[in-house]
Amino acid sequence: MHSVSMQGRQAPARRPLKKLAINGGYTLNGNIEISGSKNAALPMMAASILSDQDIVLHGIPDLADVRTMIILLESMGIEINKNHKDSLKFNASGVDSRFASYELVKTMRASIMVLGPLLAKYGEAKVSLPGGCAIGARPVDLHIEGLEKLGARIEIRDGYILASADRLIGSSYCFPKKSVTGTANILMAATLAEGQTEIVNAACEPEIVQLGELLNAMGAKIDGVGGDCIKIEGVENLVSAEIEIIPDRIEAITMIIAGIITQGELKIENIDPSHIERPIDLIRQCGAMLEISERSLFVKGPDQILPISFETEAYPGIPTDIQAQLMVLNSIANGDSKITETIFENRFMHVLELKRMGANISIDGSTAKISGVSRLNSAPVMATDLRASAALILAGLIAKGETVIDRIYHLDRGYESLEKKLSNIGAKVRRID
Ligand code: UD1
Repeated sequence: MHSVSMQGRQAPARRPLKKLAINGGYTLNGNIEISGSKNAALPMMAASILSDQDIVLHGIPDLADVRTMIILLESMGIEINKNHKDSLKFNASGVDSRFASYELVKTMRASIMVLGPLLAKYGEAKVSLPGGCAIGARPVDLHIEGLEKLGARIEIRDGYILASADRLIGSSYCFPKKSVTGTANILMAATLAEGQTEIVNAACEPEIVQLGELLNAMGAKIDGVGGDCIKIEGVENLVSAEIEIIPDRIEAITMIIAGIITQGELKIENIDPSHIERPIDLIRQCGAMLEISERSLFVKGPDQILPISFETEAYPGIPTDIQAQLMVLNSIANGDSKITETIFENRFMHVLELKRMGANISIDGSTAKISGVSRLNSAPVMATDLRASAALILAGLIAKGETVIDRIYHLDRGYESLEKKLSNIGAKVRRID
């Protein structure tokens, strides 16, 4: 066993090329394998702080965000070893710092999820406030309010959250608005609190369910994950556990859309169909053929794509993380559609870029109105965030000519070897500088 290197953790040997060039118009055919979920991996990595024993995560995706979390955890003294190919073993018995710097938190907001575990285990934490991001203000006030409800003393000073507690005390906290990482933070903190905690209006995402499963395997007493109300009976300490990370449902849907818009035939493997039921029902309305098996899905694009209108919603609704990709599908659909974004206030940054490629989209508050055009044209475009970069790649796959997408590092945060996977099924994609 050797010290982990999820490629380039220490000194990035090769600077990743920052643009992606796509020659559009090729039909995608073949098999594609979905990676482990980023949003499941990150909170479970943070959960390793709660135990002095080994926590092993299998099927961990090799992504920039995972590497950032590794750097953060190692900076606190957590030992991380690579078990084999895509398994990591975490041991937090040597934690000697409870600090998360602005430099790391600003690169990845999910770093905020170390706050709850540090506070619960060590009674103190100093974690940077994340600040704004491309898709909106994204405050962490509910994370703070929830931890205060468990008895934490919290002060904001010089851009940092300074939190302390003797031992957290179980309590009831009702999220005024559902928050995924907020729920993860309070859930993790409550496992080591004294007495019972109740999280009301909790996030129900499969990634929260899996976090609950890991924590229970570590000896926590949690009931009700996946529902609106989670009950946690605090325990004195947590032990060793291992788990296989669930497949990334956002990557799976992105690939389904890629198959549809290129009028291809794809077998998408390593998926959990129960995690994407609503998106699949919605996508069927565009006329695509979708055949679901236990762990895979076959998709065949229709001759003519019908428009699909929807609102983004918390799970089990249509995820905001696939809004941009579905907008590309609607851009070339035969008719008009409306997409309303209800989770983030500024998540239409991709619209201007899609319009530069010939899409006919107008924005009215939180609703985008799309009139399908017969085809998109290539253009130099700029990725603004993770899911917007996936949408621009999808647009590039169907645009006439070569589309060059700048700031593709956003993509590397959350999609494992996407261009390699797409190349394997017939896309003409390459990195350039
Ligand atoms: C998580 C996901 C992200 C996804 C998002 C919504 C991870 C690592 N990231 O982000 O991919 O797009 O859920 O499904 O899992 N809010 C507050 N105060 C808070 C917390 C949240 O006002 O303290 C608001 C947010 O600004 C947003 C809404 O609540 O409008 C939902 O955000 P939240 O679920 O917290 O998103 P994240 O957990 O950051």
